[in-house]
Amino acid sequence: MNTPLRPPLRLGIAGLGTVGAGVVKIVQKHRDLLTARAGRPIEITAVSARSKGRDRGVPLDAYAWEDTPEALASRDDVDLFVELIGGEEGPAKAATEAAIASGKDVVTANKAMLALHGQALAEAAEAKGHVIRFEAAVAGGIPVVKALTEGLAGNEVIRVMGVMNGTCNYILTRMQNAGLSYQDVFAEADKLGYLEADPTLDVGGIDAGHKLALLASIAFGTRVNFAAMEIEGIERISIDDIRQAADMGFRIKLLGVAQMTGRGLESRMSPCLVPATSPLGQLENATNMVVLEGDASGQIVLRGAGAGEGPTASAVMSDIIDIARGTRLSTFGQPAAALRPTQGARASAPAPFYLRLALVDKPGALAKIAAVLGDAGISIDRMRQYGHEATTAPVLIVTHKTTRSALDEAVEAMHGTDVLAAAPVAIRIEEV
Ligand code: HSE
Repeated sequence: MNTPLRPPLRLGIAGLGTVGAGVVKIVQKHRDLLTARAGRPIEITAVSARSKGRDRGVPLDAYAWEDTPEALASRDDVDLFVELIGGEEGPAKAATEAAIASGKDVVTANKAMLALHGQALAEAAEAKGHVIRFEAAVAGGIPVVKALTEGLAGNEVIRVMGVMNGTCNYILTRMQNAGLSYQDVFAEADKLGYLEADPTLDVGGIDAGHKLALLASIAFGTRVNFAAMEIEGIERISIDDIRQAADMGFRIKLLGVAQMTGRGLESRMSPCLVPATSPLGQLENATNMVVLEGDASGQIVLRGAGAGEGPTASAVMSDIIDIARGTRLSTFGQPAAALRPTQGARASAPAPFYLRLALVDKPGALAKIAAVLGDAGISIDRMRQYGHEATTAPVLIVTHKTTRSALDEAVEAMHGTDVLAAAPVAIRIEEV
């Protein structure tokens, strides 16, 4: 006997860029499959975007059009508001608030809005018995929010790590493979349309930082605390760093790491060296990777496309289907009002560091650097001096484990010697 279908879930989709059009395509193409999986039809009632006339490669005539996302979010014939506009404030946030006020669930791909306002938005939605879900906001098509919220729900999470900005990984791997400078590859990425409208979001580590802040909240049951994250972008990574790190068996990645310590939540997004042979070290081009470590599960590695029409729309659909099925999980895996406030803690666990120096080529220069490191209690693991460049000698040092503060002290002291030809570059080597 056939079970009768429940009434359709009616969507209002705001934003018809790459991702929005991708969602419309999936709803149209997989109508029967979605109905079977959700136990009810999933239909689009109305849409909204900046320009009505634009050809988006997908028929929209069957849907009502709203000129503003807020009007769309307030319609009585919309059950679920799908926010694909983007931007931390402005129309995306106003429309999300309107949807919550009119008693709707929300699915969004907006990491910036949630990283900065997710706590307030989730509390407001949950107070009314509604949910905000955001699988597409983190690592595109990789179901990492689900993996953390559901698959690892029985674990204490030890650490979350990830390469979650495809543009940065493209730039770093392209520099490595083609031997090109940061500036040349940045220009290339710009031509290919890989960069966000404000490229600082990508290369400054902010986009990836937003994503890590959201994962950390689920992983550690804490309020989203983006402001507490230590963030450093890839702008200062030179082709020399990439070459010399490779020479020592490493790759440079914009890596996010979050872990709970007795002092608070340690979360950082910064360039790190990882072994070339590790899964993270082998990650090429714009692909993303997230590594989750649970006390019972051990290490889980998820790899896939972090952006693009299909992958991101796939993630949006997974949230829509959950809600259609009646699976209505809290935004951060537990009620937002119950999340613990946490303070940020500076990374203090000792790690090995890579140190690139340009020394004045004169007797005793290297001895002075070795003495500074020795005075700071830092032991050298490996060292290489490369062929001279005019009057300077490039020197590369890999230290034994030390703390960032000891290293910063040593670098400060190096500036007090007369043997530096340029500011030293220090990059953490992450144990992955
Ligand atoms: N600019 C982002 C990236 C897109 O390169 O990964 C998804 O946030």
